[in-house]
Amino acid sequence: MAEAAMAAQVPPDQDGDECLPQYRHLLSPDLLAGQVAFITGGGSGIGFRIAEIFMRHGCRTVIASRNLQRVSEASKKLVAATGQQCLALSMDVRQPQTIAAAVDEALKEFKRIDILINGAAGNFLCPASALSFNAFKTVMDIDTLGTFNTSKVVFEKYFREHGGVIVNITATLSYRGQALQVHAGAAKAAIDAMTRHLAVEWGPNRIRVNSLAPGPISGTEGFRRLGGKWAEKSDQFSLIPLQRAGNKTEIAHSTLYLASPLSSYVTGTTLVVDGGSWLTSPNSFSALMGIASSSAKL
Ligand code: HXC
Ligand code: NAP
Repeated sequence: MAEAAMAAQVPPDQDGDECLPQYRHLLSPDLLAGQVAFITGGGSGIGFRIAEIFMRHGCRTVIASRNLQRVSEASKKLVAATGQQCLALSMDVRQPQTIAAAVDEALKEFKRIDILINGAAGNFLCPASALSFNAFKTVMDIDTLGTFNTSKVVFEKYFREHGGVIVNITATLSYRGQALQVHAGAAKAAIDAMTRHLAVEWGPNRIRVNSLAPGPISGTEGFRRLGGKWAEKSDQFSLIPLQRAGNKTEIAHSTLYLASPLSSYVTGTTLVVDGGSWLTSPNSFSALMGIASSSAKL
């Protein structure tokens, strides 16, 4: 095939929770200079790459999740690769008091928060018939309530007075209905609704609220958990218009757009970043049912 046109070129990515060995700026390196981003789930996967790309654009970050060792190790890598500051904090988005303590700590350290990325989530494949009441509740608690809890704490402690930007990381699962995903699909759909409600209510406070819905993103825990056996098949992406999975850098670039002044008049919307996947990808019942019948806890 002929060399890809510039606009179709894919930015390189790196497997695992490692920083990019090289990075070519497509936007001004000081796009987020002086700003601070609070990123839940920032110690791994998509959240880690969002932290890195933001830091490469001049932003200081707070990365927060349950596992302090994970965020601490991630923070060291991010600082070494970018030269920016990164504060690692432990909190559980299901426990508002732990969020409040983390936000207090972040404000003590940096005196400001400009951007909130709600990236923390939990998911697994499971048929509705086998899903326990607590399993459904757990995913709703982490994804939906966790997004509300964190947004409310940051609003009360900083955004109400100063304005800010919120980006909620969601998914396209509910757009057409996806087998084995009633819990995550419902949770992410509720977040997209929350995005619109909060955009309306908090707009006068100079707060923009948007969702970003990734498609299948390689090198992530979500991809590993949801890809199942058919992720290994070479023809798995032929049904996606762009014929491939996305990568973490691509999600981070689109998040950078939503978080930066480039999108200063964008609020209450969902940016789908999936190569056109949800438009064309069917439920693959034979593959899904194979997974369902061998469904074990991951
Ligand atoms: C069925 C399961 C299960 C599984 C857990 N449960 N795993 N049920 N299949 N594979 C049930 C448990 O039996 C329990 O119900 C309930 O869920 C809570 O489980 P715990 O282990 O006690 O919960 P907790 O320790 O809070 O862990 C949350 C978790 C876990 C979601 C279950 O997997 C986690 O921490 N995940 C975070 C990382 C992650 O999931 N990353 C991928 C995000 S990708 P009972 O009834 O037994 O008490 C993503 C992609 C979205 O979100 C869209 C992609 C297109
Ligand atoms: P991941 O690495 O597992 O990211 C999830 C993060 O959430 C982890 O860092 C985890 O850290 C944190 N987390 C989980 N429960 C938490 C809690 N109760 N409190 C605080 N933090 C918690 O998975 P990923 O695939 O990169 O997913 C990142 C985001 O993208 C998620 O919102 C996911 O739904 C979304 N997404 C991913 C894909 C994909 O293809 N990967 C597709 C669509 C949407 P701890 O374990 O340390 O808490």
